[in-house]
Amino acid sequence: MSSLFKPSSNTRFRMALVALAVLFGGGLIAGPMIYVRTPYYQQMQDPIDQPVQFDHRHHVGDEGIDCRYCHYLVEKSPNAGVPPTSVCLNCHAQIWNKSPKLAPVREAYFADRPIVWNKVNKLPHFVYFNHSIHVKQGVGCVTCHGRIDEMPAVEKGEPLTMGWCLDCHRAPEKFLRPRDQVTNMTWKPKDQLEIGRALKEQYHVQTRVSCTTCHR
Ligand code: HEC
Ligand code: HEC
Ligand code: HEC
Ligand code: HEC
Ligand code: HEC
Repeated sequence: MSSLFKPSSNTRFRMALVALAVLFGGGLIAGPMIYVRTPYYQQMQDPIDQPVQFDHRHHVGDEGIDCRYCHYLVEKSPNAGVPPTSVCLNCHAQIWNKSPKLAPVREAYFADRPIVWNKVNKLPHFVYFNHSIHVKQGVGCVTCHGRIDEMPAVEKGEPLTMGWCLDCHRAPEKFLRPRDQVTNMTWKPKDQLEIGRALKEQYHVQTRVSCTTCHR
């Protein structure tokens, strides 16, 4: 058998192996590093399955219900929270009360157990985030979550990476809006920088870039 191969082919084979190892070895390190930066990993295009097909378009868009009617913790606590079933029943005891799509909501309500929604926006556990301060200082929901009022199923509107947080923390004036417009999905400033600078002063907004702001 050995006569079929010249001795040099052995060397070439080894060199090819080394080349492959370098390629794949490098891939093993660089691959995940690139992967975590892609929209695929950041799950920006995949709507997540939910126990009830809750559609923000019908509630926020058509009905014009304010975000805070359901996410009522958002101004007071770190978490925006998902509404308890009793909030749904405020309306759905009367309207669409026979709808099969709402069967799991009625069952959960009468069995007195919560609906377990799957989280869409999720930071790693070593990051501290707080909704109430953002809302208080004039950062709109749409700035971080995108056009929720146009989503049949909630998707991640922004990547939620550290770089993304810092872009705003370094220069919040590029994004600030009046407090009474935080839940408005379509508010457009005439001149963002002008209004942003004025609000920054008026609300005493700080630029917060020290690591302990978000890693405590
Ligand atoms: C303030 C009133 C109100 C509240 C609160 C409310 N809904 Fe609705 N919901 C509506 C209205 C109005 C419609 C019909 C919208 C349409 O068809 O355009 C609707 C439609 C729906 C539908 C579609 C029903 C079908 O058969 O097509 C689902 C599912 C639903 N709501 C789920 C929920 C859930 C879950 C909650 C609680 C988290 C909730 N809703 C809270 C007013 C409300
Ligand atoms: C009628 C109640 C209701 C209203 C009004 C409402 N939401 Fe929701 N929202 C829900 C429910 C229920 C869920 C959980 C199911 C889901 O993800 O679709 C949710 C989920 C979300 C999520 C995703 C949570 C996660 O897992 O990351 C965001 C972001 C959100 N809502 C933002 C908003 C914004 C912004 C508004 C106002 C423009 C708003 N919601 C108005 C009921 C409501
Ligand atoms: C500065 C960016 C930012 C703003 C402004 C913001 N959110 Fe969020 N939201 C986030 C992040 C980040 C998460 C994920 C938090 C986590 O995993 O700890 C989140 C999570 C949520 C959730 C899931 C439940 C929870 O509390 O984790 C809901 C619902 C939600 N946001 C609704 C809202 C609504 C409604 C508004 C406007 C009143 C709003 N958000 C404004 C960044 C923001
Ligand atoms: C669009 C602008 C914007 C984005 C995006 C944003 N922030 Fe903020 N953040 C602010 C503003 C404005 C404040 C209020 C600063 C002040 O005046 O104290 C703030 C305050 C905070 C605070 C409170 C600081 C304290 O000491 O009380 C934390 C924590 C925080 N942000 C975390 C985050 C994290 C984590 C992200 C990314 C997931 C993020 N923020 C994204 C604008 C933003
Ligand atoms: C405004 C909020 C914010 C501030 C300020 C901040 N971080 Fe982060 N950091 C995050 C978020 C959000 C993540 C998770 C998402 C990601 O990995 O990009 C993160 C992730 C990380 C990670 C995990 C590795 C990685 O790249 O995924 C390290 C390490 C880190 N931060 C270190 C720091 C250091 C050091 C500082 C100060 C110079 C700092 N952070 C300041 C929000 C912040």
